[in-house]
Amino acid sequence: MPLHILGIVGSLRKDSVNGALLRAAVELAPPDVTIEIAHLSGIPPYNQDDEMNPPQPVADLKARIRAADGVLFATPEYNYSIPGVLKNAIDWASRPYGDNAWDGKPVAIMGASPSPLGTARCQYQLRQSFLYLNVIAVTRPEVMLGNSTQRFDADLKLTDEKSREMVARLIGALVALIRAPR
Ligand code: FNR
Repeated sequence: MPLHILGIVGSLRKDSVNGALLRAAVELAPPDVTIEIAHLSGIPPYNQDDEMNPPQPVADLKARIRAADGVLFATPEYNYSIPGVLKNAIDWASRPYGDNAWDGKPVAIMGASPSPLGTARCQYQLRQSFLYLNVIAVTRPEVMLGNSTQRFDADLKLTDEKSREMVARLIGALVALIRAPR
C-alpha cells in the first residue's frame, strides 16, 4: 500500500534550511511514499476561546494530520527550545480535549542548525510533548544536522552525502513504524 506522509516545517522563513531539509526528504522518499508539505504561516496564535470553532487553517491542518499515515517534522531550535510557530500548531491540533489529531500518529523528527548540536534540545522537548499527546515517535536515527551551512549549497540543496543518507534512513524508519502491526 502506498503511504502518504505530511511534512511540517517549524520555520516560516523563505530560505529556511529546515524547509530545504524537508524538500530533500521529498526527493529521497521511496517511490511508494509521498511527502506533502504543510505550511504553518496561516495558523493564528492559539486561543482556547476559539478551540470549539477553530479558524479554517487550523481545521484544515487537523484534517491533513488525521488523513496522513505519518508526520515528518523538520524544525530549527529557537533559544534551546521549540519554535513558537511549531508549538502553537501542535497545541491547536491537540485541542479541544478529546479531539487530539495527534493521538496514535507515527512521526519522525529532523532538524538542521548552524550550531554543532543540530536542534537536539528542541527535538527532546518535542518528544516530551509527544508523550502526553500519545504520538508514536521514531527513536533512531536521530537526525540532528549541526554545522548546517556546510551541508547545503547556495541553492539550499542538501549536498552532504552523509546527511542525505541519514534523511533516507529516517524516512525508512518512519515507514517501518507506520507499517508495524499495532
Ligand atoms: C536561533 N538559532 C538557534 N540555533 C540553535 O542551534 N540553537 C538555538 O537555541 C537557536 N536559537 C535561535 C533563536 C532564534 C529566535 C533564531 C531566529 C535563531 C539559529 C537557527 O538555528 C538558525 O537561524 C536556523 O537557520 C533557523 O532555521 P531555518 O529558519 O533556517 O530553518
